Amino acid sequence: MPKIRFLPQDVEIEVEEGKTLLDAALDNNIRIDHNCGGNCACSSCHVVIEEGFESLGEVSEDEEDMLDEAENLTDKSRLACQCKIKQDLVVRIPPKEATFDDDTF
Ligand code: FES
Repeated sequence: MPKIRFLPQDVEIEVEEGKTLLDAALDNNIRIDHNCGGNCACSSCHVVIEEGFESLGEVSEDEEDMLDEAENLTDKSRLACQCKIKQDLVVRIPPKEATFDDDTF
């Protein structure tokens, strides 16, 4: 099973292939915001793929549009809810600026 290491927590988990990065994180109590519920309609689940970026395949047009809204965008940025896990990854969850809905989610 693929292994995912989350930074900055430095937590490594094993996950079933084909699961989304968002589900893998949430199933293991790793917090990634997901304001739209994983429907590619926000950018709150933005993560940076430090290793294994190529294994995630093409970024869809919808994902690209949403990523444009993300804070601290990099060329290895993805939306966690749109990434299907195929191989080992190292994933950095970027720091969030405080937002009005911090207490809600
Ligand atoms: S949770 Fe909204 S785009 Fe991923």
